[in-house]
Amino acid sequence: MTITDTAPPGPMARLRRLRRTPALRALVRERRVHPRSLVLPVFVSEADDAVVDVPSMPGVSRWPVTEVRRVAEEAAAAGVGALLLFGIPARKDARGSEASAEEGVVQRGLRAIAALDLDLVLITDVCLCEYTDHGHCGLLSERGEVLNDPTLDRLAETAVSHARAGAHLVAPSGMMDGQVAAIRRGLDADGFEDTGVLSYSAKYASAFYGPFRDAADGAPAFGDRRSHQMDPPNGREALREHVTDVAEGADILMVKPGLAYLDVVRRTREELPWHPLAAYNVSGEYSMVKAAAERGWIDERAVVLETLASFQRAGADLVITYHALDAARWLASES
Ligand code: PBG
Repeated sequence: MTITDTAPPGPMARLRRLRRTPALRALVRERRVHPRSLVLPVFVSEADDAVVDVPSMPGVSRWPVTEVRRVAEEAAAAGVGALLLFGIPARKDARGSEASAEEGVVQRGLRAIAALDLDLVLITDVCLCEYTDHGHCGLLSERGEVLNDPTLDRLAETAVSHARAGAHLVAPSGMMDGQVAAIRRGLDADGFEDTGVLSYSAKYASAFYGPFRDAADGAPAFGDRRSHQMDPPNGREALREHVTDVAEGADILMVKPGLAYLDVVRRTREELPWHPLAAYNVSGEYSMVKAAAERGWIDERAVVLETLASFQRAGADLVITYHALDAARWLASES
């Protein structure tokens, strides 16, 4: 007797057996996205008196300090895990003074939200670009170059002011060398040993940030950010950025943008298996989905849930997404 005598006719393995019904598919699903692993970016504004919609990001608004509690309450009710706060100040100057001001826009917004004592992790973006009149992420030399070391103190002061206002995690996004160490030292010196650092450790100089810069009034007045953000073709270098930030005390790492850089997410997960990892599904990635959905070209809900699953499959633990509120609600009705 040979094997072929006893083998059933047809394919030996029928992978379709486990795909036949929703219940079978749900039973063998490898992973599920949970609303708790989603982070909603929130723009707090001093430049507006009312809630203002961002034209290039349908569904995203700029919230005056007096109104921002509304979005925080909505996020908590939907079961979202965290908020990531960005500030739009009324005044800008060369040093980005408002970034670290006790009465700054993020600090006031954060205190208003923290007072609600919601079941949400509060994270703040730490960078100078929304606060400088030139729109760059750091202090400038006379020739207009972004200075690294003189910027570090400003970032540390900013992070400490956020911790004082109630931030659980601070998220430096400026891609200055040594920024995590400077912030860590500043926090520890002020008694905030337990305030964590979510580092934008591998952040690329990406064209996908366009809509965000409209939303946050944060476009550079001249030049670009290629002297500090990473060069898009570089994959290996992301690992070097991550390990540097780990050595400086980063608690959570990040790959940004997320979708166009899923290979970097995967590589990070494989090379640094024990570190919490975030992916930032950035503004341009959001606006593309919105624009196509508005035209009826794609099914927004299906595309968003599929995208979130792909971040997880690639190895991200948490996802920062402007779709967080909708996604949390959609996930609640998923099997
Ligand atoms: C800088 C910052 C940016 C984003 C997050 N933090 C803009 C930039 O680096 O130019 C982009 C986020 C997005 O596009 O969704 N503070």
